[in-house]
Amino acid sequence: MPIDFTSLPKTELHMHLEGSIPVEALFALVKKHNRLDEAPSVEHVRRRYEFDDFAHFLEVYKWTVSFLKTVDDYEFIAYEVARTLVKQNVWFAEIMVGLGNSVMYGGHDPVAIVRAAWRGFKAAEVRHGIRIRVQIAAGRDHGADFSLDRLRDIEPLMGEVDICAFNMGGSEHVHPLPQFAKVFRRAHDMGLKVSVHAGEVSGPQDVYDALDLHPQRIGHGIRSALDPMLMDDLKRRDVALEVCPVSNECTGAVARLADHPLPRLIQAGVPVTLSSDDPAMFHTSVSREYEVAHEVLGIDTSTLVKIAREGFRRGFMDEALRKELLQKFDQEARHWCNARDIVFPE
Ligand code: ADE
Ligand code: ZN
Repeated sequence: MPIDFTSLPKTELHMHLEGSIPVEALFALVKKHNRLDEAPSVEHVRRRYEFDDFAHFLEVYKWTVSFLKTVDDYEFIAYEVARTLVKQNVWFAEIMVGLGNSVMYGGHDPVAIVRAAWRGFKAAEVRHGIRIRVQIAAGRDHGADFSLDRLRDIEPLMGEVDICAFNMGGSEHVHPLPQFAKVFRRAHDMGLKVSVHAGEVSGPQDVYDALDLHPQRIGHGIRSALDPMLMDDLKRRDVALEVCPVSNECTGAVARLADHPLPRLIQAGVPVTLSSDDPAMFHTSVSREYEVAHEVLGIDTSTLVKIAREGFRRGFMDEALRKELLQKFDQEARHWCNARDIVFPE
């Protein structure tokens, strides 16, 4: 039976600000910046979000970022993106603010856009109670020195903005991770937590390379399912994967959603969380990821409630907040389960 996961309390731990702009909000920016020739309607924007492969997706991503012209645009989208989470009963979110395309091609001041995004997130917290943390993200494509420079840029912001982590995305099939070792060392030295995209489209070796960077979590990591020893390593080191099934189908990382390795990862005991990645671009939401995991991948609802709880255990938040949210989760998720005849996972 289909189950609506919207009202289950959740986290969102893997979400890119720029890939999460609701199409209506992006269209407002298209109009604001007089670029109707490129996207004359909301429908056009929506249709632009169909991808031939992973490289094509990254190209379209760059196009989306090109509509972010002012700091006000960042504040506006940050608030709009946070609202999409509030509507799904997401209590805690980490949102990546990408400094790759925005600085390299948009010419933005990284400090100014992180501050602006933070204003939008804070406004959502004040109005709706959602807790949001910022992850600073850069792409592999821009090189190691670029990331080091961005980490230096944002360091003075760390007392002012709740920056919880550094993350790296981009073309993993082109730029192997070992060349970024100094970037991740710097991030650790700055007291940031670390998550890194790895094993999304390239093989298990990319996840082994990611583990050498000592991340607390790994983005995607789905190719780990090809290697039982690697799955054991993830389990032993207690590194959780942020799994985003719909994203993987849309970018061609998996050929068919029905073949997604999430069930195999769970079966092997790899710690997993569920996220939406770039929900606007993939026509998804974090609630839908749970639905798909249940309806398409056959994961039972008790396990999914446990995965929702895992989000609160793995989120980059202070221990006082974790305790508060976990207690509240246990209460509300138990009611949620009881109302649906679902066994609350102990
Ligand atoms: N940037 C935004 N979304 C991404 C993804 N799924 N993989 C790598 N880089 C990204
Ligand atoms: Zn991602």
